[in-house]
Amino acid sequence: MKTQIKPCKKIQVSNNDLLCLYQYQYEKYPINYSQLTSKLQKHLQSSSDRFEYKAKKYQIHQTESDNLRLLVIGLGPKKSVNNDLWITATYKMLEQANTLRAKNVALIIENSFLRQSLEGINFASYRFDGLFQKQDRDKLSSLSRVDLCTDHPQVNSMIKEQSAVFEAVALARDLVNLPANIVTPKYLEKEASKIANQPGVSLKVIDLKQAEKLKMGAFAAVARGSREPARMLILEYKGAAKSKEKIGIVGKAITFDSGGISLKPPKGMGEMKTDMGGGAAALATFKAVVSLGLKVNLMVAIPATENMPGGNAYKPGDILTASNGKTIEVVSTDAEGRLVMSDALVYLQKQGADKLIDIATLTGACIVTFGHIHTALMTNASDWKDSLLKASAHTGEKFWELPMDQEYGELIESDICDMVNAVESREAGTITAGKLLEQFIEEDSKWLHLDIAGTAFHTKKQKYYGKYATGIPIRTLIELIKGEQNK
Ligand code: BES
Ligand code: MN
Ligand code: ZN
Repeated sequence: MKTQIKPCKKIQVSNNDLLCLYQYQYEKYPINYSQLTSKLQKHLQSSSDRFEYKAKKYQIHQTESDNLRLLVIGLGPKKSVNNDLWITATYKMLEQANTLRAKNVALIIENSFLRQSLEGINFASYRFDGLFQKQDRDKLSSLSRVDLCTDHPQVNSMIKEQSAVFEAVALARDLVNLPANIVTPKYLEKEASKIANQPGVSLKVIDLKQAEKLKMGAFAAVARGSREPARMLILEYKGAAKSKEKIGIVGKAITFDSGGISLKPPKGMGEMKTDMGGGAAALATFKAVVSLGLKVNLMVAIPATENMPGGNAYKPGDILTASNGKTIEVVSTDAEGRLVMSDALVYLQKQGADKLIDIATLTGACIVTFGHIHTALMTNASDWKDSLLKASAHTGEKFWELPMDQEYGELIESDICDMVNAVESREAGTITAGKLLEQFIEEDSKWLHLDIAGTAFHTKKQKYYGKYATGIPIRTLIELIKGEQNK
């Protein structure tokens, strides 16, 4: 069941079974505690004295008065409270509310943290329940409604906006969490067609045969080894008919990456069901941009295929010709992401997209470098990058730029054609993948490459993400595109 979020000016205790408050360390009482009835105030005074509650970071204080349960969360010292901390505190409160099996929760917030409160609530209301025959009732969310006590003038529009954002994020997280026998290229096509079923939106589906006709030799090579039919999904949204500008997003959607003939080792191979995380993020970003009705033109290309060692599979040593005519020597069939993406990037530029973003779970080396903390960022346009970093300051998603010096390009030179698809020594693994993609970017295109190999998915709980798929970097991309309106 989806948790409803409702604004309320004044708290109505009888409507709720749990009341949540935030408190700064070294302050005596919770934020906006004056809004409580005098009875509750008195109760809180006596109980907080009794327990000597310090409101240290994420320290929880629980008490009860007249059938109403009260939950206070500590924020730590006021000067060190930031957006991320507020989101995390909200998330932890609602997690606790769930443990307490609360149904109707009220939250008394600080107006300046309205957005972060909504983000915390929305993060807490996402869960992937798995595919058990019988659902464990205790694991299911009990929360049905959250009342948000604030007199912020934009509360209604903010609730709506964040709901649209998180609905898209939830779609992507589900797609990443679900296994590869369910999330196939055809399944992604079905999800895309649900979004395209709206005015101003169109979907074009390119299958393997058409891809070959369009001379997408790199995408087609990867797709050939699998029995599961491949799809290049092209979504278009025209939200700014008068403008010539067009943003293009490419998302890698390898629905299962076995490595192909350069087969991966068995340990952990199941995790490669998440190798469509970039495609899911591109689809989700598109979905949110459409539902928010942003005034931009956006085109998304999702090259979707398995990477399998079938009898017709491409082989190490093969030389492929991509749709811009460039030739690629296959050193490893496990470096498949950059291949399918190169044809998608060429396609979007042919369609007039001049501001490009690509998103991919591209290299294991990226996890070696950044763990699960930063998304690796490579670019040819510092102003486009600045816009992304500005957007990321609002969402808390972290990006870190890697160098793209010409010397790195020398590592992907081939003796017999334009480039190799993989560097056997594995040096600069993340950057050389970026350098290959750069070969498919025209000079007048602004381009951002985001390697989300570490950040799209994590088997440990982190901050407010919970286990498994995180939805990174969807929220930042939506924020970035929001800023592209009226430009
Ligand atoms: N999908 C993988 C990258 C990956 C690995 C993502 C682990 C998430 C977790 C990608 O297709 C791949 O196999 N990359 C190779 C490239 C190499 C052959 C040059 C890698 O990183 O080992
Ligand atoms: Mn691979
Ligand atoms: Zn891959």
